[in-house]
Amino acid sequence: MSDTKKKFDKKGARNMDEIAKTIFAPIYPVIAEKIIGKSGITKGTCIDLGSGPASLAIAVAQQSDLSVIALDYSDDMHESASRNIKEAGLSERIRLLCGDVHAMPLDDDSADLIISRGSMFFWNDIHTAFREIYRVLKPGGMTYIGGGFGNKELRDEISATMIKKNPDWKEFNRKNISPENAERFQIMLDEIGVPKYEIILGDEGFWIVISKTAGNPLA
Ligand SMILES: C[S@@+](CC[C@H](N)C(=O)[O-])C[C@H]1O[C@@H](n2cnc3c(N)ncnc32)[C@H](O)[C@@H]1O
Repeated sequence: MSDTKKKFDKKGARNMDEIAKTIFAPIYPVIAEKIIGKSGITKGTCIDLGSGPASLAIAVAQQSDLSVIALDYSDDMHESASRNIKEAGLSERIRLLCGDVHAMPLDDDSADLIISRGSMFFWNDIHTAFREIYRVLKPGGMTYIGGGFGNKELRDEISATMIKKNPDWKEFNRKNISPENAERFQIMLDEIGVPKYEIILGDEGFWIVISKTAGNPLA
């Protein structure tokens, strides 16, 4: 197992589930609202990449008519996700899929919306991952992929709590949501030839919004 994947074994999954239900709990409905507001996509298929305990998948399903696929490569994360989805009464609307972002077991042009929070910072080959994302996205579809805490108030409050719990978290988060990292992803998107995208970097975090235009597969 890779070192990155080890972070998301039983212990890591338990920890993420706990944080998602407590400190991070208020961010998911806020991020879901931003995703739906930005994309205007409320039905069809949404894929949540690196879905972890499925908190964002659940918030998006609750605020829309989308069917959600919660994709993660950690079985332990899926165990928590499965419980949380059942508790939310959303087993009919959210399907768990075990898979790696770098080679997704999904058809070309099959997703209306591809979302992800807090996962891309762990992907070991962002060029391959974003080529895959573009392949799976339907023409007319949109992504909202990145990291953040929804708004300034939530970010400041959560940062203070997280730093108290683990002082190393400050630098980890600063590096992820920084102009340098945004530039690294921008260079990657240009290198793989994504024709239309927007990078959001602000109080809501760092998000990559790709709009796939019809008849525009990557070279
Ligand atoms: C920090 S957690 C975030 C979980 C969730 N998105 C949230 O915001 O609560 C990162 C998640 O990404 C998943 N992940 C990391 N790399 C992945 C990959 N290459 N393919 C699929 N899942 C991945 C991990 O297993 C973990 O569940």
